[in-house]
Amino acid sequence: MQDILSALEGKRAEARLGGGQRRIDTQHSKGKLTARERLDVLLDPGSFEEYDMFVTHRAVDFGMEKQIYPGDGVVTGWGTIEGRLTYVFSQDFTVFGGSLSETHAKKICKIMDLAMQNGAPVIGLNDSGGARIQEGVASLGGYADVFWRNVQASGAIPQISVIMGPCAGGAVYSPAMTDFIYMVEDTSYMFVTGPDVVKTVTNESVTQEELGGASTHTKISSVADAAFANDIETLLEVRRLFAYLPLAAGQKPPRLSTHDPADRRDDKLDTIIPASANTPYDMREVITTVADEGDFLEIQKNHAGNILCGFIRLDGNTVGVVANQPLVLAGCLDINASKKAARFIRFCDSVEIPILTFVDVPGFLPGVAQEYGGIIKHGAKLLFAYSEASVPLVTVITRKAYGGAYDVMASKHIKADVNYAWPSAEIAVMGAKGATEILYRSELGDKDKIAQRTADYEARFANPFVAAERGFIDDVIMPHGTRRRVIRAFSSLKHKSVQGPKKKHDNIPL
Ligand code: HXC
Repeated sequence: MQDILSALEGKRAEARLGGGQRRIDTQHSKGKLTARERLDVLLDPGSFEEYDMFVTHRAVDFGMEKQIYPGDGVVTGWGTIEGRLTYVFSQDFTVFGGSLSETHAKKICKIMDLAMQNGAPVIGLNDSGGARIQEGVASLGGYADVFWRNVQASGAIPQISVIMGPCAGGAVYSPAMTDFIYMVEDTSYMFVTGPDVVKTVTNESVTQEELGGASTHTKISSVADAAFANDIETLLEVRRLFAYLPLAAGQKPPRLSTHDPADRRDDKLDTIIPASANTPYDMREVITTVADEGDFLEIQKNHAGNILCGFIRLDGNTVGVVANQPLVLAGCLDINASKKAARFIRFCDSVEIPILTFVDVPGFLPGVAQEYGGIIKHGAKLLFAYSEASVPLVTVITRKAYGGAYDVMASKHIKADVNYAWPSAEIAVMGAKGATEILYRSELGDKDKIAQRTADYEARFANPFVAAERGFIDDVIMPHGTRRRVIRAFSSLKHKSVQGPKKKHDNIPL
């Protein structure tokens, strides 16, 4: 029996070595952890249960029958984060560059199926050269099996992808269908085709970093939601994100007990709005002032800065925040901001996370580039996402809520539950100057008259009371009491239940 036990230990040790010490050293020399080391950082100590450690590929072409690595380039199983269940896979770049074979895919599919059955998230640590070239269509079929499960799982369980190496070809499409993508700066890349193919086809010279590095995907393409300095920091940030999320749709995120009083007032908010309507201020400060202990986990921080999206806790409960940011493009809604916020709202709604919206928006961004780029369709995504959301929606208008953007930003007309306004709110079709110039075009030569007209318009509309008179605003609140008021609003909406019309699914303008 002792020999049998030792043989098992030997087999396990062999599997743990992946592609061998030389390749592990190469991985380390690039500043990257191995697949197993990464799971050690991600999961609670000692919580990882590995499955399929002895699975091997079945390929026989190109001398593959002589290259057998137990585990076949991916470590799979489940573990816990702060005691909460999650299924995981971690691709091992030391085995055929983490490439996906038929059996590698089967291992991933197995834990995805278990995650769905048991109502727990899937976290994928991706470090892969894409389809295993030696296997051909068997590998492509394996990818499709994973893709299909990504779609089935979407909206049922949270799916988080972490890009921790060069992910090429098929290796990028599974992450693209998950809820969040985190990247590691300088060591991770995502592209459908690499720089060499790009050079051949389009004659463009581009580095891996420029084409698909963390900076490209967090700032320009918005494929990734965040990037961090190294493997450890990135995995710790995944743990932080995980703590905000429920394990599955229909379950509540964990409540984190807080010392921050629910009725804390903050007088700073009474003076945060500048005297001039055209002077910006930092909406991030409003969010962190209202949030429990000032903690705000921002999603897509470096993309479409004119809108802020992320998670906070209010009285210990997870809330998704969407807020116009006057510091960037005066907080206008444009194509990128609309897409960013719409996707975030749909995620929150799918897993029952309530949404708090802060509004200071002068309207949609005008311009040829925006119209040619399809701002009508992309802006409609945001309107659509808010309108279909059935989670509790609480809105606070801090300053401008002009034009169509007023309707879009979780107004009561599209069934947001509670709309508050600060006394500084201006709810109107447009700003006073623009309105006067249209209404009194014939008087434009007379500066004094126009100034008087503008002042009249401001006095009539640059306030929240016209909307409040109609019940479009539930109350005009003191800025310093915002935290208490929104916590009370969400608590009154705890058991909100909405039944939409019977349909197969909607048809959001994509
Ligand atoms: C089999 C692969 C592999 C692959 C890498 N390797 N990619 N083996 N299939 N797809 C192996 C290498 O042979 C090497 O083996 C080891 O992994 C490390 O690779 P290196 O090239 O030495 O590493 P590096 O210089 O860091 O470059 C990494 C890389 C590069 C950028 C990922 O390997 C690469 O470009 N690979 C091919 C990418 C690709 O075109 N994939 C197919 C995409 S098509 P040894 O034995 O030397 O350690 C696709 C279709 C799916 O995915 C579409 C679904 C929609």
